[in-house]
Amino acid sequence: MGMNTWKICEEAYNEKLNKNYEGLFTQGNGYLSIRGSFEEDLSDATQNDRYWRMPANVTLEKQMHPKSKWGVFVPGVVGNHPILNEEMVNLPYILGLNIYIDDSRFDMEESDHDNYNRELDLKTGALSRRMKWLINGKKIELNFLRYISMARKNIIVQQLRVKSIESEVRLKIQSFIEGDVTTNGYNHFVVKEVSHNNGIIECYVKTDLEDEIIMMSRLLVTSGVKEEFQIIKDRVIHNGIINIRKGQEIVITKISVIKTNMDKETLGNLRITDVMGNPNFIDDAGLELKKAVDDVDKLYGEHVDEWKKRWDISDVEIQGDDRSQLAVRFSIYHLLRSVNEGNDRVAIDAKGAAGEAYFGHYFWDTEIYLLPFYLYTNPAAAKNLLMFRYNTLEAAKQNAKSYGYSGAKYPWESSISGKEQCSNWQYKDLEIHISADIVYAMWHYYRVTGDKDTLFNYFIDVMYEISRFWISRADIEKDGTYSIRGVMGPDEYLAFTNNNAFTNYMVKHALKRTLETLKMIKNEDEELYINKSLNLKISEEELEMMNRVMNKLNMPIDNDKHFIWQCEDFEGFVDLDFDKVWIDRSKPFGQFISQEKNYRSKALKQADVIGLLWLFNRDFDNEMVKNCMDYYEPITTHDSSLSYIIHSIVYSQMEDRDLAYEFFKRSLGIDLYDYGAAEGIHIANCGGIWQAVIYGFCGLNNLMVDEDIKLKPALPEGWERVKFRLLYNDRWYNITVSNDEVVLEYE
Ligand code: BGC
Repeated sequence: MGMNTWKICEEAYNEKLNKNYEGLFTQGNGYLSIRGSFEEDLSDATQNDRYWRMPANVTLEKQMHPKSKWGVFVPGVVGNHPILNEEMVNLPYILGLNIYIDDSRFDMEESDHDNYNRELDLKTGALSRRMKWLINGKKIELNFLRYISMARKNIIVQQLRVKSIESEVRLKIQSFIEGDVTTNGYNHFVVKEVSHNNGIIECYVKTDLEDEIIMMSRLLVTSGVKEEFQIIKDRVIHNGIINIRKGQEIVITKISVIKTNMDKETLGNLRITDVMGNPNFIDDAGLELKKAVDDVDKLYGEHVDEWKKRWDISDVEIQGDDRSQLAVRFSIYHLLRSVNEGNDRVAIDAKGAAGEAYFGHYFWDTEIYLLPFYLYTNPAAAKNLLMFRYNTLEAAKQNAKSYGYSGAKYPWESSISGKEQCSNWQYKDLEIHISADIVYAMWHYYRVTGDKDTLFNYFIDVMYEISRFWISRADIEKDGTYSIRGVMGPDEYLAFTNNNAFTNYMVKHALKRTLETLKMIKNEDEELYINKSLNLKISEEELEMMNRVMNKLNMPIDNDKHFIWQCEDFEGFVDLDFDKVWIDRSKPFGQFISQEKNYRSKALKQADVIGLLWLFNRDFDNEMVKNCMDYYEPITTHDSSLSYIIHSIVYSQMEDRDLAYEFFKRSLGIDLYDYGAAEGIHIANCGGIWQAVIYGFCGLNNLMVDEDIKLKPALPEGWERVKFRLLYNDRWYNITVSNDEVVLEYE
């Protein structure tokens, strides 16, 4: 029998891998995200440690909390950290369920157990765990199940079944909410109150940015149970005590609600700071909980139906390679559970709200790695991710101004306010390609959806202000050409370079699309053009300058050699003897070299020119692509999780199926197979994996340029068939490809 390609399983408990599974098993519905931690307390796994997290390079950061870190996140609820700035707050732990038999508490570390199994069902988003607990000569079967409702975004459902196999026992179930939780070693709660009312336990917190959050839980137990309530420090507890007979199984259900005063769906062009909180959110939470309790028998069915709707449009079926199939579904699962599709004030952070690393910040990952999956399967979600940038335009303008530039400079690391959150000067000052990437993504959205209305009414404002930034950021040379000096490209191991090819090409593209869009508006809607001209203060002089910079921006391309330099000054960096420096290749290269030496050496963290070859794959011929790949890949360390997958796609483009598959497999390892998810999911890689299958192996053409869908598959050996659906220009396409055949049907 082949492997189950819908389930991620953990067959034995291993303390060293627990944190990885907490990341892998993260559940969510876009609004809410919870790591796969155990329901019960785990010995020596404190959750309230205080320490100063310094903003080092995350790849190299020292890991804290080696065994377990709870994670309950409502993306958009952020606190203010003195060093890390706005960070996504880890909220009180709401899933608490301790189990006692004869006063001994069940603990994964301390208690004897066998027949352990934990699995995440990707199809339904349900996480289950079962084992037999051997206690004082008794055998107790424990079965946990939980899900975050996809149908009711504020509701969490947990179920616990306990069966005593051989004897009568006294069981105590302890449901709790724990308020004493820190985020990256910091306490963001200025108010914390735990209480119980009418059989419901509650925890209310207010963050240092004045967001208010209420959590309520109700334990549903059968009659005959003695109930007690307790408060111990910041923990509120509901105990249920019951005697279970030999062979009897009891079922306990815990239903919880989480709500904030800032819960909002789409805000249109209102900025979050302009929105008043909901003063009735606590009452509303109570009503929602009551309703969920009344509807308890319906909850699972409606939740599964919602997941089914999502899978029906976004599954990618791979026949002939179960390992890849599972990893692709795993990636899609995380993409589905991390997007808050109806909300344009949050985006998706680098860890997919599955951990505290990167502090919940938003990077270029969204526009370049994640967007295509949503564009082709859920354009409303894609639109909201980009509307987030529209809603934070003011902050980006302020940011440009603070550097003395015009227009909008988008932050390297954003949070809901849209202000720069990055604490390291190199990235925030120099990794400016993000602003051009946003224009690329907006144009991409327009090309795939045909949604001119959004392009004309909203995106153009962002595009124009970004273009305005670029013309003020470019320097004129003596020969009348322009340069962009002092930048960090996507490769973060060269900090300060001139005329980075990726950045400059993206900038040219951004200027081109801005000018093109303005022309379109002028031709198609004169009145709108006049309004835009007034509102954006468009001047002929600026337009001319945009045109000039677009045409005269220097590109480090050697046409004779058919080669693109990463930056104009690349040859001036030092060659490295990798074998001497990188003595243990199982660890990131960055651990073996000082930052100072790294910054002056030819060692790349990630795809840079190679990324350009992918995003503009029609602009460069095969010889150029091959020359660049042959030169850069051997000096690329792939220390960034964003690197392998781009290489896989470009190897597909080069028709090198074997290397494309080799790099694809390495990408599958990043979270799933090589235990890398401890601090959260590498969600950009998940989006990249989708792209590698669809664009890479199935050979979907570049619809930024072409009009009609065409596919040129080169599937890896063993892959018989790939099936998926795409929404393009309002039409659903059902696609099946094999190496011999492409079947394209539309609805
Ligand atoms: C990568 C960036 C990426 C960031 C967040 C860094 O390690 O170098 O390209 O945006 O992680 O995923």
